[in-house]
Amino acid sequence: MLEFTSTRLHDESRQGEAYAPSAGHTTMASKKFYIESYGCQMNFADSEIVASILHDKGFGATRNFEEADLVLLNTCSIREKAEQTVRSRLHIFRQLKRSKPSLLIGVLGCMAERLKSKFLEEERLVDLVVGPDAYRTLPGLIDEAEGGQKGVNVLLSREETYADIAPIRLDSNGITAFVSIMRGCNNMCSFCVVPFTRGRERSRDAISIIQECEALFNEGYREVTLLGQNVDSYYWYPEHDKDFSAGVGNTSATATGEAVTFAMLLERVANISPLLRVRFSTSHPKDITDEVLHTISRYENICNYIHLPVQSGSNRILQLMNRTYTREWYMSKIKRIREIIPDCGISSDIITGFCTETDEDQQDTLELMKFARYDMSYMFFYSERPGTLAARRYKDDIPEEVKKKRLDEVVKLQNKLSRESNLNDIGRIFKVLIEGDSKRSAEDWRGRSTQNKVVVFPKKGCDFVKGDYAFVKINECTGATLIGEAV
Ligand code: SAH
Ligand code: SF4
Ligand code: F3S
Repeated sequence: MLEFTSTRLHDESRQGEAYAPSAGHTTMASKKFYIESYGCQMNFADSEIVASILHDKGFGATRNFEEADLVLLNTCSIREKAEQTVRSRLHIFRQLKRSKPSLLIGVLGCMAERLKSKFLEEERLVDLVVGPDAYRTLPGLIDEAEGGQKGVNVLLSREETYADIAPIRLDSNGITAFVSIMRGCNNMCSFCVVPFTRGRERSRDAISIIQECEALFNEGYREVTLLGQNVDSYYWYPEHDKDFSAGVGNTSATATGEAVTFAMLLERVANISPLLRVRFSTSHPKDITDEVLHTISRYENICNYIHLPVQSGSNRILQLMNRTYTREWYMSKIKRIREIIPDCGISSDIITGFCTETDEDQQDTLELMKFARYDMSYMFFYSERPGTLAARRYKDDIPEEVKKKRLDEVVKLQNKLSRESNLNDIGRIFKVLIEGDSKRSAEDWRGRSTQNKVVVFPKKGCDFVKGDYAFVKINECTGATLIGEAV
């Protein structure tokens, strides 16, 4: 299940990755920070905002935590296991601090927001606790912590989008980048902690998004992924003095204050250059519109790939989850996608063992997976999160071994579906954006198709560079990778 590509909100292949800036930002700073990120891509994108704020404060980044003056963990609360991972990392950093008392340890992100100052009672050697909307105050909090006080700011905001902060790209391949377009979430899925850790939904200034994407393209990037917990509800109102209309294809955004929807934003980003690929994550089945689907089909450079998490295939469970759609509604969305974008890659998130789930509910999930023929899924067993609607209303009554057995069934079915989907691609030719060397061998290129599948092919006999598009004929596949040759 875990040959992950980088366009997913929750990318487990990168969990805990230590970061260093890409070329251009290696300063001769006197102080050094080290940052590890956990959780979804929004957290990884936030770490790049934090790097920018710390850069302005005179900190340089290091990949080696032993030489850092400031160690930061950007944390995730989505499942209990995510929090446990962070705690065990903290043990290691605490040991370092014992031999180097001047070291500051900071906890950022969703766990900081969820536990607030309780973190400082539980983990006494932590110096900073900073929530996702409070990163601008890091410089002041660091000063306080250097003076021996604990620095805490977990205030959530209704406005903060960090729109004006140019992220410092960390450990980037120079080809693909993430761009946050909104923050927070107004949905109240009963299992989910995000609305509590990230606060209210707000959309970022469209003009700043376009500017960031244009700058990325001019630096040589060839793919942007627009990020939000629920991108389809992106909605931004321009001020009168700002001109969003220039270049917006045939949409009707004007400088006179007409709202910008997600479809319009997609179109505007796609118009930057036909050489810039556009992806997005995550869509909510209740909000994805035909307008978005038509926009995708109209632009060759908007990738034919939609991550549309279903969570469960049972109407009863969907209702308890407060997902606000039915199995039938979801199936009609899948049908619409296949009609409007016939060659679209589709992936999903699935939770097994939610409160009261029966074997029959599980069968509904398996049947729905077969109907949707997902190319890929991210699959989890339910983990109760304190404070969520489900934790308050329902008993977490499915024994762990049942949750895991059901997860196993879901994973097995998904492996089968992924393999079938890959076998179908044998003999076909795909346009692949080259992201770099294959993980296994520097003799091979690695890239992705518009459907977001990883494609590997030999360098020999063709003279491409990273960032080029290649047409690749697929000869064979593994469960997670297509293998071919340039044509
Ligand atoms: N906004 C995104 C989800 C972000 S969280 C969306 O709506 O799709 C990523 C995934 O984690 C969710 O889709 C869900 O499948 C899973 N998840 C969230 N809370 C969970 C919990 N309490 N237990 C298990 N999995 C959970
Ligand atoms: Fe969580 Fe639901 Fe919001 Fe996704 S849409 S972040 S699952 S509350
Ligand atoms: Fe993301 Fe985890 Fe927070 S999935 S929004 S980092 S709880």
